[in-house]
Amino acid sequence: MLVTEQTLVLIKPDGVQRGVIGEVISRIERKGLTLAALELRTVTTEIASEHYAEHAERPFFGSLLEFITSGPVVALVVEGPRAIAAFRQLAGGTDPVEKATPGTIRGDFGLETQFNLVHGSDSPESAAREIGLWFPSLNS
Ligand code: PPS
Repeated sequence: MLVTEQTLVLIKPDGVQRGVIGEVISRIERKGLTLAALELRTVTTEIASEHYAEHAERPFFGSLLEFITSGPVVALVVEGPRAIAAFRQLAGGTDPVEKATPGTIRGDFGLETQFNLVHGSDSPESAAREIGLWFPSLNS
């Protein structure tokens, strides 16, 4: 029996605007993962900067912050066995055309890297940090 993990998932502003919130949640649930928290929220630049802190030196950091704060996002804590890898499998690679394959969320709905619809934590350490940042009242 695998140990249950939690991961932070964001449906980014493009996903909310495109009307795929239900589609993304449906794919999460069909995979067998469950929701431990869910909130529609417009994120501040402060929280966004902390969330993406490891990318602060990358050339796209400014536009990434502008984008993620441009409208509401859906923040979710998703849980289940190997939830971190399982959600990243559902999401597909970062570039929706070059990396994500058809059948994945990004592969099915995305065209540009910035507008790649969803975020999922990439490691247990990132998941713990991101869940603490977005849902400080949850004790995981
Ligand atoms: S990953 O998944 O961390 O390996 O991907 P990475 O390529 O390192 O990208 C980190 C996050 O930055 C976003 N990104 C970009 N945004 C705007 N423009 C460009 N060119 C770009 N390249 C990468 C990417 O979507 C990742 O965001 P999240 O929300 O973590 O998926």
